[in-house]
Amino acid sequence: MFLKREEIVKKIEKSIKKSERFIGEGELATYIPELANVDPDGFALSIVTTTGDVYNFGDIDTVFSMQSISKVISLIMALNDNTIQDVFEKVGTEPTKYKFNSLIPIDDKPSNPLINAGAITTASLIVGKDVDEKFQRVLNLVKKLSDSEKISFLKEVYTSEMETTDVNKSIAYYLRSKKIFSLNADEVLDLYIRNCSIGINASELAHLGAVLANGGSDLVTGDEMVSKETVKIVLAQMASCGMYEESGEFLLNVGIPSKSGVSGAILGIVPGKCGICTYSPRLDASGNSIRGKNLLKILSNDLNLNIFL
Ligand code: DON
Repeated sequence: MFLKREEIVKKIEKSIKKSERFIGEGELATYIPELANVDPDGFALSIVTTTGDVYNFGDIDTVFSMQSISKVISLIMALNDNTIQDVFEKVGTEPTKYKFNSLIPIDDKPSNPLINAGAITTASLIVGKDVDEKFQRVLNLVKKLSDSEKISFLKEVYTSEMETTDVNKSIAYYLRSKKIFSLNADEVLDLYIRNCSIGINASELAHLGAVLANGGSDLVTGDEMVSKETVKIVLAQMASCGMYEESGEFLLNVGIPSKSGVSGAILGIVPGKCGICTYSPRLDASGNSIRGKNLLKILSNDLNLNIFL
């Protein structure tokens, strides 16, 4: 039974209404000062289906930084530029109960590619003659997958994080000391933070998610943008590690492979169906958007999006 567009819109509006009870809960990510310069109650939802239908709600033109959602892109790039074996020799595949910027889950190598240590490692695996060229390649991939030339680099966010990133700096140097990479640690860190500072809106991010939900193929032409093998790995890691120390609970309650960022966005990918982006910048203690994660739970239930059902 297929629903008409108006019926789907009504259903989504009802789900959004239910999520309003979470407005005001949580805190902005002030450890990157620039991230506090946003409307704390800003809100957007975009769902893009694999057939190209777009459902946009709220502040759809608001541009936010990708933050940790860029870890998905960094993993794709690392897998494009290296063999699967080479990538997972440097970074593990296991979830961790520690915070996203903890040094503990590094041990012999970072526990997974979606924590900071793991994404600094995947950044070290991206090919290019210098940081500028590597970042341009990352930006080009985001533009291609989101079908938007408007994807930008948010210099203020980048500068703000560069000035306050002592923890990530120590992670980068520690990884180098462990011979996870031999490149200049400051340059690897620079690329990691540039990736986090990519500016995008909810609709563009949902489109990027829809391409991955479509097995990595363009929604219109069907041309391959990301290989199926890579999509399979990325979605598995998002499902098990994408919501940090809440990943198990989120998978159990929501059942959608997802990745959060401290700017307040969450990208959800429902294989074969759609990409979803929620934006609401108030976060819980794990760095996940409170209204966003709850809206994903509501949508999963109301629109039957749980991948296990
Ligand atoms: O490295 C950091 O701390 C930030 N640039 C990204 C962290 C992040 O988005 C965690 N996500 N929920």
